[in-house]
Amino acid sequence: MAASGSAVGLGNIWGFPTNAASNGGAAFLCAYLFLAFALAYPALMAELIIGRAARANGISALQSISSGNRSRLAAFLVGFAGMITVTFILSFYSIVSGWMMAHFFDSIAEIFKLMTISNWLTSDAPLRNSLFVILFVLLTVKIISAGVKDGIEKWASRLMPSLLILLILLIFYVVSLPGAVDGLRVYLVPDFSQLSDPALLVDAMGQAFFSLSLGVGTMLIYGSYISDKENLPALGGLVALLDIGIAVIAGLLILPAMYVALSNGVEIFDSNGEFIAGPGLIVSVLPNLFETMGAGGILVSLAFFSLMTIASLTSSISMLEVPVSYAIEYHGISRKRASIWIGALVTLISLLIVFNFDPLFDQVVSITTELSQPLLGLAFCIFAAWVWQRDEVLKEIKKGSPHVENSVFWRVWPFYVKFICPVAILIVYFQ
Ligand code: PHE
Repeated sequence: MAASGSAVGLGNIWGFPTNAASNGGAAFLCAYLFLAFALAYPALMAELIIGRAARANGISALQSISSGNRSRLAAFLVGFAGMITVTFILSFYSIVSGWMMAHFFDSIAEIFKLMTISNWLTSDAPLRNSLFVILFVLLTVKIISAGVKDGIEKWASRLMPSLLILLILLIFYVVSLPGAVDGLRVYLVPDFSQLSDPALLVDAMGQAFFSLSLGVGTMLIYGSYISDKENLPALGGLVALLDIGIAVIAGLLILPAMYVALSNGVEIFDSNGEFIAGPGLIVSVLPNLFETMGAGGILVSLAFFSLMTIASLTSSISMLEVPVSYAIEYHGISRKRASIWIGALVTLISLLIVFNFDPLFDQVVSITTELSQPLLGLAFCIFAAWVWQRDEVLKEIKKGSPHVENSVFWRVWPFYVKFICPVAILIVYFQ
């Protein structure tokens, strides 16, 4: 539950549908499905297995499977780069999540007809953004400082089922509205001519790595909390399936919603005739849609933004856990202190971005998710397949699945992470 909570986030409900909308709908869906299963799942397994074997944070874990001095140094650099990357991801993530919370409170303000408050909550003022960043990081810090069992696991198992229920209810409602079928058509009828566009593959790969929380040590640290009794390939498969499944299902909500908005007179294309994707979609198009729905729209808006806030929170806690576990294990700092100090640092970076939004936001997003994550994912594959002893890997997987040696997984996966994943990631990357 916690690992799928980490995977399922804004990347699924906001990133995937908007990427699909701007990249040929179902053509993107096909590329994404292929890359997620063929590249991201094996990379996810690499992180989970290393994590469970080492039972430690990213840096110590990579070091413990490396033998020579040089590979230990590389282990430190990769682990450290992952930690810095995830800290920056959390910084931009908190800004977007803050918007979601502001809109959630706006729905409540509207129910009570508090229009001045509502107007402030939907304004894009830096003050509002800063306050909600602080609130969101505080919540994340609170859960993380409660620890793995009472914080992460408890909240993930409460929030994840609510997320699924809300998502399904919203889909049923939105799909029944006029205009929704056009959105379904754009999403589900492929325009295969777009598959030859290298940008589509790069987007789909970035999306798959971001969505499965790869390359930054999150899944590694969650792997380190998994019991030896668990069957890792099956568990990783379940996490990947849930994550990919929820992204695909979220597309059934977001694209129809955009076309319902269009048929209600809301603008969904920008001046170049392209979809208003990115943050603009959720904070401008959807609230406009909810407004055109009359009184019921307020409830739909409340449901939608609580969905977004829940999805963000189960992901943000997994991000903060990466530097926090490092500070606890490597430097002996207490969990509470580490969460507070690192939370404060994240807030500072977020505020820097809030006040310099235009140059910084897009740059931080693209450097961390398009540049850093796939390359670090590649590095994790190299550690699992080239640095670590093959017998040790097998011994680790066998703990929870004694017959794995004869399974398709063991016949395919080692070869896959050793050769196919690194080469494929590099090819897509240099495209
Ligand atoms: N997977 C999360 C999402 O889809 C984002 C994430 C990235 C979480 C990296 C942890 C680490 O929103």
